[in-house]
Amino acid sequence: MIREIFIPGTVVNDTEGSPVQAHGGGILAIGGMYYWYGENKDGANVSAPSGQMDRLDVIGVSCYSSRDLITWKNEGIVLSSRPDDPAHDLHPSQVLERPKVVFCPATEKYVLWAHVDSPDYTKARVGVAISDSPTGPFEYLGSFRPNDEESRDMTVYVDPADGAGYLVYSSEGNATTHITRLAPDFLSVEAKFKRAFEREFREAPALFTWSGKYYMVTSGCTGWDPNPARWHVADAPMGEWVTGGDPCIGDAKGTTFDAQSTFVLPLLSEPDQFIFLADRWHRYNLRDSRYVWLLLDMSSGEPRIGWR
Ligand code: GAL
Repeated sequence: MIREIFIPGTVVNDTEGSPVQAHGGGILAIGGMYYWYGENKDGANVSAPSGQMDRLDVIGVSCYSSRDLITWKNEGIVLSSRPDDPAHDLHPSQVLERPKVVFCPATEKYVLWAHVDSPDYTKARVGVAISDSPTGPFEYLGSFRPNDEESRDMTVYVDPADGAGYLVYSSEGNATTHITRLAPDFLSVEAKFKRAFEREFREAPALFTWSGKYYMVTSGCTGWDPNPARWHVADAPMGEWVTGGDPCIGDAKGTTFDAQSTFVLPLLSEPDQFIFLADRWHRYNLRDSRYVWLLLDMSSGEPRIGWR
């Protein structure tokens, strides 16, 4: 069904007819529902000092709910910016990116992880928030550097095989990816990590599992501008990760179809097929950034993403 209805790169409207604001996001599938969380960028770009990335003020994390991945109901901003407190991580002047929500069976809480940063991206931390409900509100618990290491682009991943959680993040000046296990309550990390893709400058990690192995799609490190994706494979989420190549087929410009990975969602009805979620950033008007969702096909034994 999704093949006919979702048109990659066009505006996705919610049930009220407003454009979905859920950039750099991810999807939680639970209780027969899909919850799409992402950056609400529904504001004007602010001019960045030279040397800084184009940005807009933090608004918060949006949530949309759906039963079919097509009809999206706006559940509102589930983690809001904090205009009242200039020292807060979520003050509008700061950076809040790549939110991902996981359900923790041990505590029955919904846990939101996101990249929080200063406008010059030197803070390089992860922020954690918690809620009793997938539609929030999420209570912000604070931010930290996992194992005292920088954390910028990131995702959280729960291994369906054993329920363990992982944080995967660009570290060491974005040169090397780190992977660390989450504590059983999914609110902190264990005191050890593995390094992957050493000095390969990978960002925007998106994980999935297929046929007993673990796969990751990442982007290169070119800010809002797109670059060729790569896929990687491992026997376990901590690695060792081996790089395969570019999963995109017929992507003549080598730009991941002008988009950057953010999440991979399994299509449970079709075991070899996944939805690859990516952002087509509009750097001078970030609010108008688009979603590129494409089928990721594993039937050849390797990730393949073609334009549809
Ligand atoms: C990208 C990153 C985005 C955002 C952007 C800022 O590399 O993937 O999440 O941080 O840089 O320029």
